[in-house]
Amino acid sequence: MKFMCLFALAALVLAATAHPSIGQGTYNKSAFENAMDDAMKNLRVLMGSLIAEDWTKAEASAKALAGGAKTIRGLTPKASADRIGEFQARADSLAAQSARVAAAAKAHAPGDAGQGLGQIVQSCMGCHSVFRK
Ligand code: HEC
Repeated sequence: MKFMCLFALAALVLAATAHPSIGQGTYNKSAFENAMDDAMKNLRVLMGSLIAEDWTKAEASAKALAGGAKTIRGLTPKASADRIGEFQARADSLAAQSARVAAAAKAHAPGDAGQGLGQIVQSCMGCHSVFRK
């Protein structure tokens, strides 16, 4: 029994050292560029399809934005990296607003979708004002 406990402990320690990515990572410029290019593209498609009332395309691009927000959440900003919790909360907010717009598009609800779009843009700008230096 004692042997098993030690073994389990050793396995835990090994697992922890094998995954240094758990916890705060380091700034990665190209990862940021890719994630933000995607966000910009999806936002553009979303705006265009909402204006054209192409609900299928609007829903798909809003979902893509929400998925991209999860990627953004995993990044570490160059500026104010000590405020990683706030960074992640802002990425979560982008994901939530995007999901809201996806639902509005699915329901063919232009008012809700338009309001949500405004909040998405505010999510982008809010995070930039703190973390994009
Ligand atoms: C959680 C924080 C956060 C959110 C949310 C966010 N961004 Fe960014 N964005 C950044 C940071 C930080 C940078 C600066 C990247 C760097 O330092 O390399 C950046 C840079 C950019 C750039 C410039 C990329 C480049 O190649 O230099 C664009 C374009 C961009 N963001 C678009 C968007 C759009 C569009 C949204 C919303 C749909 C968005 N971002 C949401 C944090 C965020």
